[in-house]
Amino acid sequence: MIICSCNRISDKQIRAVVTELLEEDPNALLTPGLIYKKLGFRAECGTCLTLAIETIINEIDHPSHNGCQVIHLSRLQEKIRNKKKNATSQRAVNKQTRQGLRSW
Ligand code: FES
Repeated sequence: MIICSCNRISDKQIRAVVTELLEEDPNALLTPGLIYKKLGFRAECGTCLTLAIETIINEIDHPSHNGCQVIHLSRLQEKIRNKKKNATSQRAVNKQTRQGLRSW
């Protein structure tokens, strides 16, 4: 499934990079920006970031992985969901997501 239509990044690519990065450093803080950079891309419109985060979390949650970054990403995901409920447009959500990721 395509996660990022701007860069044509699939969930399989994201999962593979997450696995690779966790093998290198089990305590690595994985963000969509880091994953995209590893794949040779960068976020363009930001529409995919919520789905990218969910994909990262699902892969990290896999029993073969163990890392504290799940907590951080889960908090960010919860923050995004709360903002989504109150947002009147997808653009507002994307702006808030990018700001949240920059503050990391
Ligand atoms: S859909 Fe991923 S940056 Fe636009």
